[in-house]
Amino acid sequence: MVGSVQQQSHDVFTSLTYRPAVVKRWVAECRGVAAFDDDITAFYDRGEEAGRLGDWGRLEMLRTQVLLERYLPAPPAVVLDVGGGPGAYAVWLAEVGYEVALVDPVELHVTQARAAGVARAEVGDARALPFADESVDAVLLLGPLYHLVDADDRRRALAEARRALRPGGIVAAAAISRFAAAIDGLQKGHLRDPQFEEILERELPDGRHLNPTRNPSWFTTAYFHLPDELAAEVRAAGFELTTLAAIEGIGQWLPDIDDWLDDPTHRAALLRTIARVETEPSLLGASPHLLAVGVKR
Ligand SMILES: C[S@@+](CC[C@H](N)C(=O)[O-])C[C@H]1O[C@@H](n2cnc3c(N)ncnc32)[C@H](O)[C@@H]1O
Repeated sequence: MVGSVQQQSHDVFTSLTYRPAVVKRWVAECRGVAAFDDDITAFYDRGEEAGRLGDWGRLEMLRTQVLLERYLPAPPAVVLDVGGGPGAYAVWLAEVGYEVALVDPVELHVTQARAAGVARAEVGDARALPFADESVDAVLLLGPLYHLVDADDRRRALAEARRALRPGGIVAAAAISRFAAAIDGLQKGHLRDPQFEEILERELPDGRHLNPTRNPSWFTTAYFHLPDELAAEVRAAGFELTTLAAIEGIGQWLPDIDDWLDDPTHRAALLRTIARVETEPSLLGASPHLLAVGVKR
């Protein structure tokens, strides 16, 4: 009985492309996942995510590509980009020969991903993937784990990734470091505002980043991991951990990062240096983003 309800909502979900939020919520409830956080939708509905990786997220994207090139199965392979946003990675992966499907709960992102050329992009949630068991070679979770504040939801997202993966398939799961907001808050000056310090004070002990001000410069509802916690969550979901690496690592805190990235020789030296210390435990928490890669055995 439960199976048939799940199957029914699964089909509806699969065909859900550009529907009102109320329908999405109904589908989520049928499938037993909590509704998607309205603050997160409001944050991304500003439409700014589409330009991020070409602007202040350049190093994040370059380094994520380095890591994915190293750990993904060679193309052609089927990659599911869960929380793929406006499609920057999906477009790149399709260009280099992968078959890519993107899922994201933010309708604007799905529309932008399609417009960017992602052939298969659907509204969906990491906690209830509209894909059959053992149907894909790799799952990217570059976003969902840091927007799912409750540990049960993150467990569910990882379990869904595992279910959809073939044996031997790869999960690449990103997290935001517990200390990213403290470092960023000083670097960008947010900590001159006592309201930001209140947010930071609350989040440092337990990782829950809640931004009641809705000031978009201070991000939105999120969970900020300790490095070991990300590794533990991936292992607890039944994956063999291949690596836990800093994404931007020590490169993030360069004041002249664009100069380093603009010059091909300097960029190569920067990337080599970050890679040399990417798994150093004493430096992991200083990287804004972390990537855990696991294999389904
Ligand atoms: C910062 S963006 C990252 C987009 C892209 N993956 C990247 O790495 O640039 C985070 C993304 O995670 C998505 N997201 C948040 N909660 C999610 C969930 N429960 N399931 C799937 N995606 C989610 C957001 O809608 C957003 O597109």
